[in-house]
Amino acid sequence: MKKQRLVVAGSGSTYTMGMMMSLIEEKDNFPLQDVVFYDTDEQRQERNAKATEILFKERYPELNSFSYTTNKEEAFKDADFVFVQIRTGGLAMREQDEQISLKHGVVGQETCGPGGMAYGLRSIKDMIELVKDIRSYSSEAWILNYTNPAAIVADALSREFPDDSRLLNICDMPIAIMISYAKLLDIDVWDLVPEYFGLNHFGWFTKIYDKAGNDHTERLKRLIIETGFKPEDTEIANDVSWQKTFEQARQMLIDFPEFLPNTYLQYYLYPDELAAKEDPNRTRARQVIEGRQKRVHDTCDQIIAEGSAENSDLHVDIHGVFMIKAAEALAYNTAERFIVIVKNNGVIANLPSDTMVEVPCTLTSQGPKPYAIGDIPTFNKGLIEGQRAYEKLVVDAYFENNKQKLVEALTLNRTVVNVNKAKNIVGDLLEANKGYWPDFQ
Ligand code: NAD
Ligand code: G6P
Ligand code: MN
Repeated sequence: MKKQRLVVAGSGSTYTMGMMMSLIEEKDNFPLQDVVFYDTDEQRQERNAKATEILFKERYPELNSFSYTTNKEEAFKDADFVFVQIRTGGLAMREQDEQISLKHGVVGQETCGPGGMAYGLRSIKDMIELVKDIRSYSSEAWILNYTNPAAIVADALSREFPDDSRLLNICDMPIAIMISYAKLLDIDVWDLVPEYFGLNHFGWFTKIYDKAGNDHTERLKRLIIETGFKPEDTEIANDVSWQKTFEQARQMLIDFPEFLPNTYLQYYLYPDELAAKEDPNRTRARQVIEGRQKRVHDTCDQIIAEGSAENSDLHVDIHGVFMIKAAEALAYNTAERFIVIVKNNGVIANLPSDTMVEVPCTLTSQGPKPYAIGDIPTFNKGLIEGQRAYEKLVVDAYFENNKQKLVEALTLNRTVVNVNKAKNIVGDLLEANKGYWPDFQ
């Protein structure tokens, strides 16, 4: 089995340590030769890197080398895989996005509504640059990208790099939801076989089977409605915000019983209620800064101070495991099935071919092979078309330097709708994003 040279771009991420634990757990299935960290923020990177160095010495002694750098050539030369998780503007800009949206009475969220638009316009520029850099040193490396808002990033990258067949955008939400299904059904999550369609953070499970072919869909719906729905992945199980989000997924199923919803649909189906519940002084960004980020930083500081990770509470999480299992399928042609983001090209028959859709695919060494879905029902199609038009307008606005399209995008977005609100939000976001967004005329 060929051992891989893996680069983690955005290695200062709050998810990096969980990912390193997952690499250790998956070492027999996805064996590594070298691991390289790359980040633009030296300090942020260094904490994770020093802790990882100690962790790998204890638990990955067979690794040939571990290094970290802010130099692109050093990082990307001869890479087999690059796992990308960058956040342009950091959590500080996320907080701005969320607060500005809430100031105008609309949902303040990382990837949905105006927050997603603002973040998308920041991410596109850095992601295009990063992919170009990676390609100039490693033309064949697999680039697996988590960077959000994944729908907008995927659309922009597919326009900029239409022929790049080794670039794949993924999201861990469908598999994180499936962990909760697995728990309710008392079946291992990797024995579940989902049918699913949609856009990123905007889709539905239509069927849940097991590997033997049994259909668990209706029993699962009954269980969710009767016993409730909770996050089960280690990273989010005890997070109050995620607990509320999963509870709301139960309500969505009651209101629209045909399919099982992605949790992110809550922002589009109950926008007023959700905006009203949020505290502008403590949006999700603040919760993450004081929660996940603090926890990870404290843990790393402790590992570095003790010179050992033995007493640390680092844990494997689905975020890491999912990306590694996808990489394993691409590297070793396992043809395992995962829900990932690909160009529609007829997969959902009644949606345009250039739409970036999130659907089940077999992952092979030739890339993702999606399963045909056919026509989707009018209600879901209508919702998707509105959201898709919003996403397309944001990416058009970026490439065409067209501010008017941002107003059109937010007018189409279900979290905004009102034109005056759309204009005011665009004005405030333009001001806050100077230096990050294109210089709109
Ligand atoms: P974070 O801010 O903690 O980490 C991001 C890191 O990227 C930082 O260390 C930052 O310095 C670095 N960075 C920023 N711009 C960079 C660039 N141009 N090149 C290299 N490094 C750069 O953020 P986080 O909360 O850990 O999230 C990381 C990313 O992963 C975000 O985009 C987040 O939305 C995304 N994410 C996606 C999914 C998914 O389902 N697709 C799941 C979880 C997280
Ligand atoms: C899920 C989503 C991601 C999102 C992450 C963290 O995993 O799929 O896209 O970035 O949650 O969200 P949070 O609000 O906890 O930072
Ligand atoms: Mn996601």
